[in-house]
Amino acid sequence: PEEEFDTERPPIVTIMGHVDHGKTSLLDRIRNSRIAAKEAGGITQHIGAYMVEKDGKKITFIDTPGHEAFTEMRARGAQVTDIAIIVVAANDGVMPQTREAIAHAQAAGVPFIVAVNKIDLPEANPDLVKSQLAEMGIMPVEWGGEYEFVNVSAKTGEGIDDLLETILLQAEMMELKANPKCPAKAVVIESRVEKGKGPVATVIVKNGTLKKQDSFVCGKTFGRVRLIIDDLGKQKKEVLPGEPAEITGFDEAPFAGDTLVAVESDRIAKETAEKWKEYLERREKSKTTKATLEDLQKMILEGNLKKLPVIVKADTQGSVEAIKGSLAKLKNEEVKVDIIHSDVGAITENDVILAKASEPHAIILGFNVRPTTQAKNKAKQEGIEIRTYSIIYDLIDDVKELLSGLMT
Ligand code: GTP
Ligand code: MG
Ligand code: NA
Repeated sequence: PEEEFDTERPPIVTIMGHVDHGKTSLLDRIRNSRIAAKEAGGITQHIGAYMVEKDGKKITFIDTPGHEAFTEMRARGAQVTDIAIIVVAANDGVMPQTREAIAHAQAAGVPFIVAVNKIDLPEANPDLVKSQLAEMGIMPVEWGGEYEFVNVSAKTGEGIDDLLETILLQAEMMELKANPKCPAKAVVIESRVEKGKGPVATVIVKNGTLKKQDSFVCGKTFGRVRLIIDDLGKQKKEVLPGEPAEITGFDEAPFAGDTLVAVESDRIAKETAEKWKEYLERREKSKTTKATLEDLQKMILEGNLKKLPVIVKADTQGSVEAIKGSLAKLKNEEVKVDIIHSDVGAITENDVILAKASEPHAIILGFNVRPTTQAKNKAKQEGIEIRTYSIIYDLIDDVKELLSGLMT
């Protein structure tokens, strides 16, 4: 019921972008911390959650890695977030993981703000970033579009207040509500096992209040909240909606992406986890490799699909553009092709993860490129369809057939 969501909660904001474009440095500047300087190799390799306060309003930030190896974490970040911040370095411009990050936000249906960082550098060219993104359909407000661009420098602090205000304004429009009084529901964004503590999970509470001693079920595992530690390392008694925390008390380490739900008793927690485990095992056994294609065809034939999500990989930028142009022209009465990501190069595991993160799952189309072995295995395991072609017209014809629900 409506009245169950009656209290404002802080927005969950995920920072994404290409490696070294300054995501962690921006958060450091916002929080007055120095995480980036301590990272091995200067590279973020995990997903972290932090809370800040601006003018009495709280914001929960998720920092994600920009290195290409961490697509899964970016997908997870995009899935739990209310607003994404796409960080683009003004001296480097739009890069592969910039495009990937935008694809994640779009696949998850999350609004985003572009932070053009490093504007302190003499070679910074924020207008070039704007025109690169405008070309991708991400038109800045000042050019008549709907996307907020904010010029910032994590180094000098310029534009940071502006960025925070833009976030709060966007959050206000979204009217994010929760009910602190109902049983807690939280998302696991990361988990690990620590000596002496056992499994530790970073969670963000989506609704309700998570308290010490709460019994909970969390995917295939369960437990009782033993310790709650905030992002500054302080112990707490409870976590409110929208807030992040590290918690201990799990029977086994949960998986990132699992939902933790507070329940009445240890017994219910254990029984629910066991049922869930059985269900997942059954589903695992019945999985077929044709899952995506069949699902899409069913949706098309039933008239339940408005947009057909695809990922396009090709050998040259010219062929990427040619395919995109032809696909844009294709439409039957109802279904439109939605290119959630396109790039030059082989089909990688990252593309498969991105296809899986899209709802419904996307089909991967390759032109004069092949999937890597890892990509092939992952696609098989996840039921993601990969199609490769050496003639553009064959690719277009196949998509035409699929739009009519007939592709085989
Ligand atoms: P990954 O998480 O590894 O993808 O990197 P990141 O996006 O978090 O970037 P990080 O904060 O690690 O910064 C990368 C480098 O850029 C570091 O050397 C920073 O000092 C530098 N840097 C970040 N922001 C700025 C800025 O605004 N201006 C200048 N001049 N340098 C910056
Ligand atoms: Mg980082
Ligand atoms: Na870095």
